[in-house]
Amino acid sequence: MRKKVTKAIFPVAGLGTRFLPATKAIPKEIMTLVDRPLIQYAIDEARAAGIKEFIFVTSRGKGALEDYFDIAPNLEQELRKKGKKDLLAILRSTNMDSGAIAYIRQHKALGLGHAVWCARRLIADEPFAVILPDDVIAAETPCLRQMVDAYAETGGCMVAAMEVPPEKTGSYGILDVGDSNGPVVEVTSMVEKPKKGEAPSNLAVIGRYILTPSVLNNLNKMRTGVGGEIQLTDAIAQEIGKPKGAGVYGLRFSGQRFDCGSKSGFLRATVAFGLARDELRDDLADYLREIVHMDRAAE
Ligand code: UTP
Repeated sequence: MRKKVTKAIFPVAGLGTRFLPATKAIPKEIMTLVDRPLIQYAIDEARAAGIKEFIFVTSRGKGALEDYFDIAPNLEQELRKKGKKDLLAILRSTNMDSGAIAYIRQHKALGLGHAVWCARRLIADEPFAVILPDDVIAAETPCLRQMVDAYAETGGCMVAAMEVPPEKTGSYGILDVGDSNGPVVEVTSMVEKPKKGEAPSNLAVIGRYILTPSVLNNLNKMRTGVGGEIQLTDAIAQEIGKPKGAGVYGLRFSGQRFDCGSKSGFLRATVAFGLARDELRDDLADYLREIVHMDRAAE
């Protein structure tokens, strides 16, 4: 019987330089799509996949994240007094159970692999998920749920995979794949940010992983890789080719992924999530039609 995946690591120690000056004072993960911070989407997805323990790898200046997950007694009292039940329910949906959430500091931004390794003592000997909150995925069945279900069949390590345009492969970990079974593909090699012309495919890894403790062992011995960072991809790649029940698999998940670590991805997500909300859809759609129309008229 495979151990269930009940722990997730959220590496949020990066500097978020692409969103300066905003990220001078607020963590990127607190920036909001409509009215929910990026981190809330990640937590909701993890909960829907059965995650019970939430481990944040943070850094200096990320205090707002801890406050966000704390209860807000004064605010709750005020809303109760005013009979604002709906708002109270929204507020409470962000509360976390006592003891379910842990914060670990990454003292230097040495890379995603290093961030994950910082949480090793809280993971011990279990499979675990890693979620990058700046990849937001709109899906009928949440992406991590799809992965946990697929992992129940395959074991080993599993990464979320999607096709990217060939000119973008240099920004991702890229997979070479062998046999496939529906949306699950067996990974035969993976390379982080390949140079132009060296990508084995255009199947990219995006920010969802299910990993075995042996990846943490690999990270124990890791040196810096591409970009002078300790790369998670390199530590996962060492698991490729292990016998059945181990090895590395990719899941071509169903859903739409938004790269909210980039400004253009963030704006697209804002529009998509705005249009998905009943109370905003008509007004926003009218406005979008209006500006597209004005743009065309100007041409
Ligand atoms: P990014 O590559 O998006 O870096 O990290 P960043 O610092 O967040 O943003 P930019 O590029 O400066 O704008 C991908 C994920 O890995 C985490 C980040 O917090 C983000 O969730 N990360 C990255 C760490 O936790 N530690 C690191 O050393 C590097």
